[in-house]
Parts: sequence; structure tokens; C-alpha cells
Amino acid sequence: MTTTPTEPRQGAAPPPAAGLIATLAGRYYTDPEIFRQEQDLIFERLWCCAVRSSDLERPGAFRTVRIGRESVLITRNRAGELRAFLNVCRHRGARLCTEESGQVRRNLQCPYHAWTYDLDGRLVAAPNLQKMPDIDRTERGLATLPLREWLGYAWVCLADEPPSFEDTVIGAAVERLGDTAAIDRYRTEDLTLGRRITYDVRANWKLIVENFMECYHCATIHPELTDVLPEFADGLAAQYYVGHGAEFAPEAQGFTVDGSAGFGRLPGIADSQDRRYYAVTVRPQVFINLVPDHVILHRMFPVAPDRTSVVCDWLYLPEVIDSGADIAKSVELFHRVNAQDFDACERTQPAMDSRAYRDGGVLVPSEHHIGTFHRWLTDRLADGRA
Ligand code: FES
Ligand SMILES: [Fe+2]
Repeated sequence: MTTTPTEPRQGAAPPPAAGLIATLAGRYYTDPEIFRQEQDLIFERLWCCAVRSSDLERPGAFRTVRIGRESVLITRNRAGELRAFLNVCRHRGARLCTEESGQVRRNLQCPYHAWTYDLDGRLVAAPNLQKMPDIDRTERGLATLPLREWLGYAWVCLADEPPSFEDTVIGAAVERLGDTAAIDRYRTEDLTLGRRITYDVRANWKLIVENFMECYHCATIHPELTDVLPEFADGLAAQYYVGHGAEFAPEAQGFTVDGSAGFGRLPGIADSQDRRYYAVTVRPQVFINLVPDHVILHRMFPVAPDRTSVVCDWLYLPEVIDSGADIAKSVELFHRVNAQDFDACERTQPAMDSRAYRDGGVLVPSEHHIGTFHRWLTDRLADGRA
């Protein structure tokens, strides 16, 4: 939903070329085989944002989350650090934790034959373990996954050789905002979760990414958003302009559903970031929205070719939440935007199967940058097949 300014500015790429370019064909949004390849070559190879670190408050807290086709188990160990594992017992493969979240005292015990693992994944107990001298407790421990914390979230990667986190995750923010300081200033890791809404969207994950990348639709479906960000109404949408944030309307006091005042500005942000909205897409499954008084972060979890779970967090200064301030109007703006966007995606999904869309559709000039997402996707799928 990031728009371009009408005037070219420093760091700007050339204005979009005139004319139309092709989208992906309809089958990319419906074909189970393409979905399987995406899980294998994208979601199970790249860094994915799994959980908010503060959701695992104390040692022994755990969460399970689906990344690609795997269930991933994240725990907080006794030292207070996060760990990620495949949620599979190394004895005979039972799912170790079946709940989405929970709290254990010390260890995780498999509900099948009671193999027991500590919070670092080591096998620490099993019935008759002493009588099995050839068991290596580390080797038989849970399969550990690389985990990085950034913006107050735990990011995990299922690949044997993860790509550079700096290049692929932080790099996405740099590409969009110009430098890491621009996002670091929001101190997202220190913010408190004010609200979380999970949306069950009956649409392919790529429709959601494409929708987020363009603002050609903003004037049609986002009346509240375009009231606050009038430049979104001109449809000239692109993420071409490095560092550009959409400016608030002069009459908007804050990023709220009715333009009323929000909360105090986040202390670290620059004057140039005040009264502006920035959006970052971190492929494949994260959208970051930065406004002066809060941060909104979306995580997407594809469930099926035509279904995606989207978890959206609204993050505020701790003192805002601790004071019991009413965040309803603040949350409502982007909740409406989400509902409007996901409704549009759901209206598009059934048509992906139509013979009218066999060869796909077109991207108008203000959507041309979506073509880079399509090329990124098809390149990854082609590399995987090579
Ligand atoms: S499968 Fe887990 S203890 Fe047997
Ligand atoms: Fe939108």
C-alpha cells in the first residue's frame, strides 16, 4: 500500500514505463503442485517470522507455529533465550506439543512413550534410558533450527544452509527505507502488543502480497485510509521511491480511523518520519507498517493454495498500553484496511480458476513493481527445479 510521491525525488527509480505487463497465470494461485513447490523452495528455505518474542514470557513457555509444511516448536530456555525445533519426537515421530502455546516447568515430554527433552532440545529422560547405553542424548535430541530475533520477533529458517539474514530480511527494509536506522528508530522490539487479530483469508498468499504492494485499489476500497493518507487516493502506487513515506492529511491528527489524535510519537523516530506512513514487504511472509505512534506487523502463514492465515499485531509504547489508553480507533483503521484488502483478495481467488484468467491478467504502470515479485517467485521455483 505504499504510494509514490508525484514528484521524483532523490534515490528514485525511473517512473514506471507506460503500458501493461503480464501477471502470473491463474494456475499459480490454485495449483497444488505449485503450492507444494512454494512451500519447499520458498517458505522452507527462507527466514520466516514465527512468533513475537514476548509471547514467550518466561522460561518453559512454548509456542508451535506452522512454517512451510513443518510444525515448528519455539521455547524459552532456562537462560531466557529462545530456541526453535522441529516439533517431532525423535523416538518414533509423534508430534511433541499439540497445543498452540503453553508453559512447562522444565522439560517437554512426548505424550506417546514419554521421551523427555529439556528446553534446549536435549534428550534428558526416557523410560528405561539407563538400559540403552548406545543412546546419544544430544544426537537423539530435537532437531534444532536457526533462530534470529529482530524487531522483537523470532525468525526461523528451515533450510540446511540459511541465506544471510542481513541480506534477505534486514535488506528488505534497507531496500525500501534506505538504511537500517530508519527502521531501528521505531524500536519495535521494545513495543508492547496492544492488539492481535488473526484473519483466515480464503485466498492464495501471493494475492495478499500483490495487494499489499500496490495502491491502485486504495481509492476504491480504502475510504478511511485515503482520508488520512490522501496521496494514496491518486492510485500512483509503487515502492519505487526509496525512503518515501506517505504524508498524513493536514487535518489528520493521527493514524486513526477518523483522523483523531493517536498517541505520543515514538521517542526515537526522526522528524522526517513524523506524520508519515511507511510500508515494508519482507518476502515471503511479512509486512511492516510504520507510523509515528505505533507499528503494525503482519505475518502470513499459507495453509492451502486458496487459504492463508494472517496474524496482525498492533504494537505500542509500553506506557500507552500500561495506562489503559483506548487504542480502539487506532486499531480500527488498519483492521478496516485489512478487512477491505482480504475481502478483495477473496473476491479474486475464485476467478483464478476461470478460463478467462488462464493466461493471467495485466499490471498497469503503477503496479509494475509487482512484476519484480513475480520474477523473484518464478526464479526461485525455476532454480529449485534445475
Ligand atoms: S514417539 Fe515420542 S516417545 Fe515415542
Ligand atoms: Fe489495500
